[in-house]
Amino acid sequence: MTSGHPELIAAIVADIAVKGPIPFARFMELALYHPRFGYYTRERGEEKAGAEWTGERIGWAGDYYTSSDVHPILGRALARQAKQIDDLLGEPTPFTVVEVGPGKGLLAKQMIEASAAEYPSLFRRLRYVLVDRSPAMRSEQRRTLAHLPANMLVWMNRLEDIPPNSLIGLVLSNELLDAFPVHRLRVSEGRICEIYVDYRQGEFIECLRPLSCEALAMHLRRLNPQWPDGYQTEVNLEALTWIKQVARRLQRGVVLTIDYGYTSEDLYSPARRNGTFLCYFRHSINETPFLRVGFQDMTAHVDFSSLAEAGKAEGLDVTGFTNQLSFLAGLGVEAMIAELEPESPEFRAALHLLKPHGMGGIFKVLIQQKGMGHIRLDGLTYRAFGEAALTNGETHSHAA
Ligand SMILES: C[S@@+](CC[C@H](N)C(=O)[O-])C[C@H]1O[C@@H](n2cnc3c(N)ncnc32)[C@H](O)[C@@H]1O
Repeated sequence: MTSGHPELIAAIVADIAVKGPIPFARFMELALYHPRFGYYTRERGEEKAGAEWTGERIGWAGDYYTSSDVHPILGRALARQAKQIDDLLGEPTPFTVVEVGPGKGLLAKQMIEASAAEYPSLFRRLRYVLVDRSPAMRSEQRRTLAHLPANMLVWMNRLEDIPPNSLIGLVLSNELLDAFPVHRLRVSEGRICEIYVDYRQGEFIECLRPLSCEALAMHLRRLNPQWPDGYQTEVNLEALTWIKQVARRLQRGVVLTIDYGYTSEDLYSPARRNGTFLCYFRHSINETPFLRVGFQDMTAHVDFSSLAEAGKAEGLDVTGFTNQLSFLAGLGVEAMIAELEPESPEFRAALHLLKPHGMGGIFKVLIQQKGMGHIRLDGLTYRAFGEAALTNGETHSHAA
């Protein structure tokens, strides 16, 4: 079944008409980021009468919520972590936070407001750069942050607009990498094939083809997977390019990546036969990307081992890897929660971020650094793992 935004479907069909079947990653790129009609890029007003779009993407009125929709406690913890990094860097002017993919800008708001309230010396030197490829999301961020000092905020469309080796501070992202287009793979008759998208008789359909690029083949040679027939999974090559770009822009500082994900060993274990690809529409999940094309989000879990390895090749060293629960515990979440009225909606919302089988356990935090040597960060005080855990899978019983 194919349904969705009519102009977006027409644009994808036109792409297929020119090129023949396209890799799923290309389909996902167009569905989420087509310059005019994509899920993230579409401006209000581009929705069609009777279409399925409420005008919201992220949040309770949208398709999915993120930590900052639930409670500001993550922003507050991140402000504390940023202050510690600022101290370790010798309180530079400016201390730059680059947040990539800030969505509605809520996390930025919460983190900046917490800095203003609790770390005035950081707040005075703070330069907050919001990098988002979607003009529609940048407009939402401007609305969310309109009350903050304008000279503190900088907007950019792409990471490439930041000069190489120029950043001193923190590069932050929350649920960015799981929104990058992924290559989808399926093992058929003992061979790893790539899922392509074709269009026949008014429907998008999947077909299997050889791998679409040498980068993917090289990546698979590195992973050296032992997958059974019928096994299906995803590879996020764009995340690896992204972390290298980040590394090249950082002079000294920390990269803090929060997302759904696993180590390579966990993500690509033979038992995970169906991969992690999911679509989100009005807070329910499905696995049918050809439905509501342009009206639903698509995601896949992040391979944190490959991310760490790609960063290392460009001079980023792993400081630690943990989950959101342990990260927040190390940054004093217990004391923050103690300030809330027990059993109040706020109290329960804050606890929601910590649930070991919910957001606290599913979200992982990877911290990498450049030019800072061996550092100890409060966010890695509890049950954090070093680089070895990412490469040999020692995280099973803890950060999973
Ligand atoms: C899932 S949303 C992130 C939500 C947000 N960080 C939060 O915590 O609520 C993904 C965001 O990343 C942006 N994005 C996707 N790919 C990007 C890229 N390569 N560079 C910058 N922004 C990107 C999207 O436009 C969107 O705003």
